[in-house]
Amino acid sequence: MTEKTSVLGDIHSKTVDGLGAKSEVEQYLAYRKEFELASNFEKVHNYPIHVDIEIDNFCNFACTFCPIGQPENKFHEQYKTIKKIDKNKIFELLDECKKIGVKSVQFSLVNEPLANKNIFEYINYASRLNIVDISIVSNAYLLSEKNINSLLNSGLKKIQFSLDSFSPETYKERRLKNLKPANYQKTVNNILNFLKIKNEQKKIFPLVRVSFIELDDNKHEKNNFFKFWNDKVDAIHFQKLIDYTNNEAKKYESKTYKCNMPIFRLSIKADGNVKPCCVTYGEEINLGNIYNQSLNEIWQSKFLKDFQKLHLESRANENSVCLNCINNTA
Ligand SMILES: C[S@@+](CC[C@H](N)C(=O)[O-])C[C@H]1O[C@@H](n2cnc3c(N)ncnc32)[C@H](O)[C@@H]1O
Ligand code: SF4
Ligand code: SF4
Repeated sequence: MTEKTSVLGDIHSKTVDGLGAKSEVEQYLAYRKEFELASNFEKVHNYPIHVDIEIDNFCNFACTFCPIGQPENKFHEQYKTIKKIDKNKIFELLDECKKIGVKSVQFSLVNEPLANKNIFEYINYASRLNIVDISIVSNAYLLSEKNINSLLNSGLKKIQFSLDSFSPETYKERRLKNLKPANYQKTVNNILNFLKIKNEQKKIFPLVRVSFIELDDNKHEKNNFFKFWNDKVDAIHFQKLIDYTNNEAKKYESKTYKCNMPIFRLSIKADGNVKPCCVTYGEEINLGNIYNQSLNEIWQSKFLKDFQKLHLESRANENSVCLNCINNTA
């Protein structure tokens, strides 16, 4: 539900400015062009532009707005058992991504990527394959100096730190660790330390974005959040809450709707199932499994082609999962 969020700071121009060789710049601009065509519904490419890999389903947090922290939520069940994608399978997936033309890989979905000890190897492998854009999203709690140094030298292009607050009061309401409020100041200090070390090492990448889910009880902090982080990071992402607790589908007023995620992305869950988007509601739509099919087979399948057609023709509301997703996105 990308159009319902706003990003301040042009991370793509900053990427172009930061890239060295002319060939790297050309490659990045070509990728952005492909992405633009797909996300504007102008072209379905022969491959997904972007792939999310949920390398495992573990998180050190249990935030109240996330399925991991919602025991009553039907999507919570999967997090009761730890699942990990085999290490060799991840290398195989990355090889296939490179072969078929995937330009962007994110090593996180609903998990904490820094809690996986192999994360730096995965990023490094993707970087050596010359996958153009490599990113992770993290709660920043495990940013030890060792992890910071590993990240800075991994080939990672972008990192998003999720904060959602500008005070310990609102942070503690939402972000829990072992059922207790996580320490806001520790998260902020970790991010500031990351930025300091990055600066000392004169690294341009990874570019840094901080994010803030707007809620009734924290929207008064939005301006101060912006003022504090604006000159420290490369972009600020204000996100809308997706309500995963409401099981009753509201009636959607409009008869037409389209979502661009199935046009540019595939999202791989820790159990190997492949989904058309990164939104938890979309997990009810299964496109296949990486242990039985290649990504190319999944992308070319009739099922996905029909699903993409539904979106290209603004008939997403005809799919009950998408209708429910649309209705529960603030
Ligand atoms: C699921 S988390 C995974 C990465 C990492 N654990 C983190 O929190 O940054 C990815 C992003 O989804 C956001 N998120 C989680 N639950 C959400 C919800 N119900 N609505 C909107 N965004 C949500 C988080 O704030 C985070 O920015
Ligand atoms: S830190 Fe991220 S994955 Fe973990 S519970 Fe919070 S939002 Fe979910
Ligand atoms: S569930 Fe459907 S509408 Fe929602 S993000 Fe996924 S593809 Fe888009």
